[in-house]
Amino acid sequence: MKFKPRLTSLLSLFIAGMLPGALIAQSSLIPIETASNALVLRVEPNKDLRIAYFGKRLSRSDEYGLVASVNHQPSDPSDEFNSAYTPSGSRNLLEPAITVAHADGNYSLDLRFVSQQVTKVNDDETLLTVLLKDPVYDFEVTLYYKSYYKEDVIEQWSMIRHHEKGNVILYKYASANLHLVSDGGANGFWLRQYHGDWAKEMQPEETRLTHGIKTLDTKLGTRANLYQPPVFMVSLGSRPATEDEGTVLYGGVEWSGNFRVDLELDPQENLRVIAGINNYASPYTLAPNDAFTTPACWYVLSDKGKGDASRKVQRWARDRKLLDGNGNRLTLLNNWESTYFDFNESKLADLLKDTKKLGVDLFLLDDGWFANKYPRNDDHAGLGDWQPNRSKLPNGIASLVKEAQSDGVKFGIWVEPEMVNPRSELYEQHPDWVVKQPKREEHYFRNQLVLDLTDPKVQDFVFGVVDGLFTQNRDLAYIKWDCNAVIFNAASATLKDQSHFYVDYVRGLYKVLERLRAKYPKVPMMLCSGGGGRVDYGALQYFTEYWPSDNTDPLERIFIQWEYSYFYPAIASSNHVTDWGKQPLKFRTDVAMMGKLGFDIVISKLSPQDLEYVQGAVRTYNDIKGVVWHGDQYRLSDPSGNSVASMQYVDEEKSRSVVFSYLVNYRYGTGSLLPVKLKGLDAAKKYRVSEIDLYPGTSSRVGGVYSGDFLMKVGINPDVHQERMSVVLSVNEEK
Ligand code: DGJ
Repeated sequence: MKFKPRLTSLLSLFIAGMLPGALIAQSSLIPIETASNALVLRVEPNKDLRIAYFGKRLSRSDEYGLVASVNHQPSDPSDEFNSAYTPSGSRNLLEPAITVAHADGNYSLDLRFVSQQVTKVNDDETLLTVLLKDPVYDFEVTLYYKSYYKEDVIEQWSMIRHHEKGNVILYKYASANLHLVSDGGANGFWLRQYHGDWAKEMQPEETRLTHGIKTLDTKLGTRANLYQPPVFMVSLGSRPATEDEGTVLYGGVEWSGNFRVDLELDPQENLRVIAGINNYASPYTLAPNDAFTTPACWYVLSDKGKGDASRKVQRWARDRKLLDGNGNRLTLLNNWESTYFDFNESKLADLLKDTKKLGVDLFLLDDGWFANKYPRNDDHAGLGDWQPNRSKLPNGIASLVKEAQSDGVKFGIWVEPEMVNPRSELYEQHPDWVVKQPKREEHYFRNQLVLDLTDPKVQDFVFGVVDGLFTQNRDLAYIKWDCNAVIFNAASATLKDQSHFYVDYVRGLYKVLERLRAKYPKVPMMLCSGGGGRVDYGALQYFTEYWPSDNTDPLERIFIQWEYSYFYPAIASSNHVTDWGKQPLKFRTDVAMMGKLGFDIVISKLSPQDLEYVQGAVRTYNDIKGVVWHGDQYRLSDPSGNSVASMQYVDEEKSRSVVFSYLVNYRYGTGSLLPVKLKGLDAAKKYRVSEIDLYPGTSSRVGGVYSGDFLMKVGINPDVHQERMSVVLSVNEEK
């Protein structure tokens, strides 16, 4: 179905200068409308730009002008609270979006509306730009709002520029500045935020926001979201939104470095959200006429609960953001956990045959294949020396790629091109390429340091690592791009302004990725970071998938994948079956099937029955993967608070669906005592429910033909319990 983006007639009239006299008072409204919502800016008579409304779309767009009259605002200064981009040092009293020191050393900024422009990018996307200028200083900010009509997503960013007689220093430069109005009474704002660490990614906490500022941020530099990811969820009302009920705002910063999100409950009980790059240790000097463009922040609002909001984000990501979001993906066998650094050509030859035997598309060679002077036999040495290790691989990568081809599988390879071990030739030859403080002792994270991507020479080197692999191995089919260290002792040997380091590092990384994608537009690449220390929509424009966590214990993964799924689509989630956890192979595989399936187990050590199972599982997955990757995702039963977790995927035609159910509480007598109600089906259609992905020798216990109406109102019991810890059901239209 095609949706038509619509500029409100009011805005069109405004642009055309044809506004009728009676509506003059409202002519200052700038509505950004999507299928369900409106974010309405208002130009005040003094040219301040405010957020007049952010909520469900009104039927009559001329009534956005009446919102202010019913939102009681007691005093004058309060008017500043809903600024669309809050400057500091003039009339503002709360957290600013932008703070600057002008060329003359003055710290005050005022921003007034000058003009606006609307560009229809395509059927779905509309770009609004609003120019603001300081009436005293020759300083301007252009706000960008890109709206995606059918997905209800808005991306917001800003461009800062000046024509002063000297440099201006930017102390804060947010991307987005939002204002959410409280429903009043007992209602408030509920933040779902995440924290984590290695193998403990995406741990949720949901609490009511209290007055003052709650800051979500990171200062880690590279694998920036190791401790905290750049995404958040805010529910409006007397309790957090549930899966299907309540109003909720999701958002995230599209930046693979230090980010900062401030959520400020203001004195009027409204919520201000200011998000963008973290200004920590990063004053940015801006020369006259240069432009500083912030990364975008994305956000989506839904009044139909967390499930609806997440489906909107996922659809937007697949259609507009994630590289090849609607395309294909490769199933794979990875050797990391089966060999670690200990392999040679003959071992790999066996693994290539195992890849074929398993039935997956690709073999992925992990860490340990490179470096000669300081061989990469553990994680203490070799990083940076990207020549194949002659004793492990005397015939190089090319012969492995060839051998894979003759075995009928594709070949992929691991790299960590942004990093260096001090024990490496790269470090010996280019100590000035390394991020470190010249006068301080080096400090390592996983025995390694970060390369200085602010330096164009280093950008060329990093580009060359990956480009070299492709040019020498034309049939290389996949890259796993790892990033294991944070930045300690942030400093560059070449950067003029050291305080630009954190920002310019990420810009340098994007330049490299941009060049790689210009040359290799579609090769699948996994964004990995020693677990999920790096996933955001800034990076996912260049990557086809991400690695959610090194923790592949399936029970843990159910929780981790569940939380990621609110923000990222299943097609991007690389889920590998490993030997973490004590659960049966079927359970581990069923959990990994919730996204993009891969394996990291020793195929040759499987029992005949396990081998038969897993080969069948790959065939089953090939049959259902289209629904998992491209369908809508519905959370049916949450792993927190229930003994069974259930997740469902439904294709666009509502003719095919898959339901995964897992036992998440192993205490005596736990299991699916009640049916689980399905979602997203067509009530009028008939569906055949069948149990799939059965372990050899076991038989189906669930099945039959039911109407969509029945399945959604009464449900189906997957019959999960200790002896059947996971059950996969296909729900296909019966014609
Ligand atoms: C961290 C990754 O998360 C692992 O999968 C593996 O690739 C190792 N790095 C290799 O060093």
